[in-house]
Amino acid sequence: MMGWISLEFQATNSPFTAEQAELLNRLLPALTDVQRIWLSGYLSASLQSGAGVASPMSTSSTSVAASAAPVVSVPKDVTVLFGSQTGNAQGLAKKLAQQLTAQGFDVTLSSMGDYKTNNLKKVHNLFVLASTQGEGDPPDNAIPFYEFLQSKRAPQLAETKFAVLGLGDTSYEFFCQTGKDFDKRLEELGAERIVPRADCDVDFEEQAGEWIGAVLSALGEATAASVAVASPEATASVNEEASPYSRTHPFAAEVLENLNLNGRGSDQETRHVELSLEGSGLQYEPGDSLGVYPQNHPQLVEDILQATGWNGDETITLNKNGDTASVRDALLHHYEITVLTKPLLEKVAGLADNEQLDALLEEGREQDARTYLQGRDLLDLIQDYGLGHIPADEFLSLLRKIPARLYSIASSFKASPDEVHLTVRKVEYEQHGRQRYGVCSVHLAERLEAGDTLPVYIQHNDNFKLPKDSTTPIIMIGPGTGVAPFRSFVAEREETGAEGKSWLFFGDRRFATDFLYQTEWQRWLKDGVLTRMDVAFSRDSDKKVYVQHRMLERSRELYEWLQEGAVLYVCGDEKHMAHDVHLTLEQILMQEGNMSQEAAAEYLSTMLQQKRYQRDVY
Ligand SMILES: Cc1cc2nc3c(=O)[nH]c(=O)nc-3n(C[C@H](O)[C@H](O)[C@H](O)COP(=O)(O)OP(=O)(O)OC[C@H]3O[C@@H](n4cnc5c(N)ncnc54)[C@H](O)[C@@H]3O)c2cc1C
Ligand SMILES: NC(=O)c1ccc[n+]([C@@H]2O[C@H](COP(=O)([O-])OP(=O)(O)OC[C@H]3O[C@@H](n4cnc5c(N)ncnc54)[C@H](OP(=O)(O)O)[C@@H]3O)[C@@H](O)[C@H]2O)c1
Ligand SMILES: Cc1cc2nc3c(=O)[nH]c(=O)nc-3n(C[C@H](O)[C@H](O)[C@H](O)COP(=O)(O)O)c2cc1C
Repeated sequence: MMGWISLEFQATNSPFTAEQAELLNRLLPALTDVQRIWLSGYLSASLQSGAGVASPMSTSSTSVAASAAPVVSVPKDVTVLFGSQTGNAQGLAKKLAQQLTAQGFDVTLSSMGDYKTNNLKKVHNLFVLASTQGEGDPPDNAIPFYEFLQSKRAPQLAETKFAVLGLGDTSYEFFCQTGKDFDKRLEELGAERIVPRADCDVDFEEQAGEWIGAVLSALGEATAASVAVASPEATASVNEEASPYSRTHPFAAEVLENLNLNGRGSDQETRHVELSLEGSGLQYEPGDSLGVYPQNHPQLVEDILQATGWNGDETITLNKNGDTASVRDALLHHYEITVLTKPLLEKVAGLADNEQLDALLEEGREQDARTYLQGRDLLDLIQDYGLGHIPADEFLSLLRKIPARLYSIASSFKASPDEVHLTVRKVEYEQHGRQRYGVCSVHLAERLEAGDTLPVYIQHNDNFKLPKDSTTPIIMIGPGTGVAPFRSFVAEREETGAEGKSWLFFGDRRFATDFLYQTEWQRWLKDGVLTRMDVAFSRDSDKKVYVQHRMLERSRELYEWLQEGAVLYVCGDEKHMAHDVHLTLEQILMQEGNMSQEAAAEYLSTMLQQKRYQRDVY
């Protein structure tokens, strides 16, 4: 509920006479919040209608029909729920809630993970904002609510109006699947959709802003609320938080250091990058990520120019604002050229007049199209279908903006003020007969030196946070680059003198070359900042040894730590590691806690809900 600022009306600095000011000062402090909302709505509606406030007010607590003014009612409750892994849906939910609150609605804003589902049947207006993770899965903090809603226990919602905003990425097969699932299920439960679902791609600001605008308008009409609905201009673009730098307005951070953490002879390259945030006002907490806007590989850009014959120096318009750049710069800095999506293929087919491409998009050939898109880039598309004849400006206008990459922050702001450190593994591989370079990791590894700058922003993540009570034990499982946030956690705990026990499981390929931050862990162990560390080097012996094998070896102690209330964190590979670690945790609970498989699963689910099991996986 919006807080009320106490005002003292003075006849001298207001348009009121002394008598009116005195009356107002007597009346206003005595009003309840509902009465104030009602009054503000009544006055606003009267002014909008030009009717003045001459009509007598009804004392009805729900609505009033002034003879010449629009229908006025007490604004209804609104519940805004978000399911978010890295904070995008959460940020949008917060914005929607702020705008609704500013308009006098009684707003409940909650993560799905914290929401008490028995309140659901009382909700009149429900807005759901959810991203999709994994392969079409809900984010971690949405899982219990998602499962509840899909289950038979979900209530009928005939009295509920709703709308859903999905966040996703069109390069994934199950685009915005979680948003689609929520939308379908709420309808099945009898709720009334008041705004069509929006499925947003990685560049979501504009579409999400339009959806928020539509929700505000629809709610205004549906409740006959007396409040003025924000103008489309005010809601069309979603502004970022109060910080001057954000996802849409990144800070040019200077590179302080860029080192390879892997030893000579390693078959991997992992960069430790230190950036300066000085002068930006940006701050972060352990568990947050840094968004980095990279540049495409110059060789790929030159190859595209060569394959098409486009003039790299020709000037083109980049966006609706009329910003311009040369074709070469646009390919280097502005557009995504390494990922193909189905919507892109369809748009290109519209320009290309190419029978083969049209055939690939025919109904019934969805799997062929998916197979084609896998691992191919713009150069493949241009070469495979001979698309060099399409003019540069037309082709480029179809491309997505180059999306930022997220990196778990590996430093503590308290320990290294005005700095942010990253641990970035270089992605390079061969596919479809050509060497491929990970856009951001290769940019950082090969073309970024101390003194250069990089556009960055902080992505706050409430779902991956140290416990508030610094005496709570923590267990950190982070193989490979998954170790990054734990460097931040331990540095923070050292800096703040936290007394809680801490235990790190780290794994990588080889002890001799791939033990990331080895000397720092050893110092922290020696100083007692880190209580325990177990390592698993997978390629030092014939048999693969992974972090979960070490967890099993220590299952008794691990179970005891969990029983003592430890918070458990997992960071790194989502596809295999996080699943295997989850299964291993189940196994440990069954073995050490004498639980059935169902009981172990329930134990972990409760831990998830209580934020004692947090994951930052990618
Ligand atoms: C919350 C979060 C935190 C993250 N933290 C970190 C971190 O701390 N450190 C870190 O290094 N990364 C981290 N990542 C991953 C990071 O964001 C990037 O995805 C990663 O660096 C690759 O980006 P890129 O631009 O270099 O590669 P891209 O150009 O985006 O290419 C990557 C794509 O290449 C393909 N690919 C990769 N390897 C192969 C292969 N061997 N064979 C075939 N195809 C392949 C895959 O399709 C992959 O999606 C994090 C991601 C998230 C979401
Ligand atoms: N989107 C991207 O392009 C991108 C880029 C970078 C990383 N990532 C993701 O981030 C993950 C982390 O990458 P990384 O290079 O830091 O490390 P990684 O590939 O996860 O490897 C770290 C260690 O984990 C081991 N490992 C492999 N499978 C495992 C499993 N099922 N359970 C537990 N450990 C396992 C590896 O062993 P072996 O290798 O010897 O089997 C290695 O010793 C990647 O796997 C990938 O999914 C994605
Ligand atoms: C590991 C991972 C898996 C993802 N899987 C999907 C997916 O299956 N479908 C989809 O549409 N988007 C997928 N996305 C994209 C996210 O939904 C998108 O980045 C979204 O903006 C994240 O919002 P959030 O910060 O609120 O979680 C995935 C992103 C990541 C990092």
